Amino acid sequence: MNVPAPAAVIVLAAGAGTRMRSRIPKVLHPLCGRSLLLHAIEAARGTSPAQLIAVVRHEREKVAGHLAEHAPDVVIADQDAVPGTGRAVQCGLEQVGASSGTVLVTYGDVPLLDAATLTELVASHEGAGSAVTVLTARVADPTGYGRILRDAQSGEVAAIVEHKDADEEQRAIDEINSGIYAFDVDVLRRALGQVTTVNAQGEMYLTDVLAIARAEGGAVRSLVTEDAMLVEGVNDRVQLAQLGSEMRRRLLERHMRAGVTIVDPATTWVDAEVSIGQDTVIQPGVQLLGATTIGEDVRLGPDSTLEDTEVDDGASVVRTHALLAEIGPGASVGPFTYLRPGTVLGADGKIGGFCETKNAQIGDGAKVPHLSYVGDAEIGEGTNIGAATIFANYDGVDKHRSRVGRHAKVGADNVIIAPVEIGDGAVTGGGTTILQDVPPGALAVNDTTMKIVEGWTSRRRPGTVADEAARAAQAGAGESETSSSEDGKEQEN
Ligand code: UD1
Ligand code: CA
Repeated sequence: MNVPAPAAVIVLAAGAGTRMRSRIPKVLHPLCGRSLLLHAIEAARGTSPAQLIAVVRHEREKVAGHLAEHAPDVVIADQDAVPGTGRAVQCGLEQVGASSGTVLVTYGDVPLLDAATLTELVASHEGAGSAVTVLTARVADPTGYGRILRDAQSGEVAAIVEHKDADEEQRAIDEINSGIYAFDVDVLRRALGQVTTVNAQGEMYLTDVLAIARAEGGAVRSLVTEDAMLVEGVNDRVQLAQLGSEMRRRLLERHMRAGVTIVDPATTWVDAEVSIGQDTVIQPGVQLLGATTIGEDVRLGPDSTLEDTEVDDGASVVRTHALLAEIGPGASVGPFTYLRPGTVLGADGKIGGFCETKNAQIGDGAKVPHLSYVGDAEIGEGTNIGAATIFANYDGVDKHRSRVGRHAKVGADNVIIAPVEIGDGAVTGGGTTILQDVPPGALAVNDTTMKIVEGWTSRRRPGTVADEAARAAQAGAGESETSSSEDGKEQEN
């Protein structure tokens, strides 16, 4: 579609949203990892408008602050004390420079509306040369919505009547005003000048613009959407959850159509900004959150939560909780693994079962296979860290870093007391406490000797089950000695 870009999109976000019963402004509640308002802004941005404007009032600082942080190109317009959607748009229009062209109006609390529908609205509006085009839908329960009144002869939209102002006959109409419109900017400016607050709610209704535009000879038409969910707003937390699950369903469908296998969509959550490569397979119980990116041919899950995490092609991540981590191509993580911010795992590396890592750079092909904590550390390529090794990074006051070189081998159950360096190709024995640097190629073992005290259990724990077991073992050993000597053979053990 070759559709001209609108002069502006005005996103209304000044309302109080009292039915949310929340200290957080309604439009800042998140859905699939992004606020309701940013969903609306993203859809608006998709039409490439010359200006993008948000009208704010309730909790102005929080809402404007959120936009400054996440969508700094959006122009903030402040609504004054005059209530109503008409006044909101009038305040937004003060920021619009253009004196001709199309202005779109959308709501900050309608999260499923997409750029394609808005583009279609502009195309239909400009194609027909209309003064106003309203997006409408037919719904099973139109209670609360403005109803579309049509001219009996032309079928064009004659007016919109609000539910509270409607009579019985009008309330029976099931075609509703979505609140999303395309306006000729000049018509909109003029008509808003004539809108009053004489109605059931004492507000300036934007909907009054339609009848005014028509009275001055402009054509008022509609675009009827078949997909009523697209224009549904959030008023309370029940609707928030309903639209959230619908958005989730749509996002998952898009990924599946693009070549991602999602074994169980019912238990899979993928935020709006997540990207997933072709032929990746997602097992049940996976949540991909925030700015997570997943490569191609990745094996994910079951039961993993990855937030702001990058997983490269061909990696495998099983039963893992990861935040701000990077997992290299072909690498393997899990099960029961906790990757904290700053974990970077190289190509074909491994962080295995029951490991926790933080601010740890683990090189290509390096492995931390079992039961370890790696905090504030660098591990070189090809190095193996023995089971249950702990990088003790915290001395009670400060955190320190340790470094293990390339192709080194750290034995099982080492405690690496930071800050230390273990050189390239070095080896440490099982159970070593690493208190000082180990030069490249050296062996480090602690100087401890093991002592055997024979008969200790029978002297100190006489009559216990342990004592009985020890005695039985000794008696058994005696018997087998006897039998072997009877056979005249040497028994090996
Ligand atoms: C409005 C429409 C109604 C339509 C419905 C669709 C009017 C008069 N009525 O009704 O025909 O069916 O939306 O959901 O327009 N807002 C402001 N400033 C205000 C008042 C509202 O910015 O002073 C914003 C709200 O934040 C919200 C949107 O406008 O995003 C709609 O406001 P709301 O009060 O929900 O309108 P409704 O009465 O539901
Ligand atoms: Ca509403």
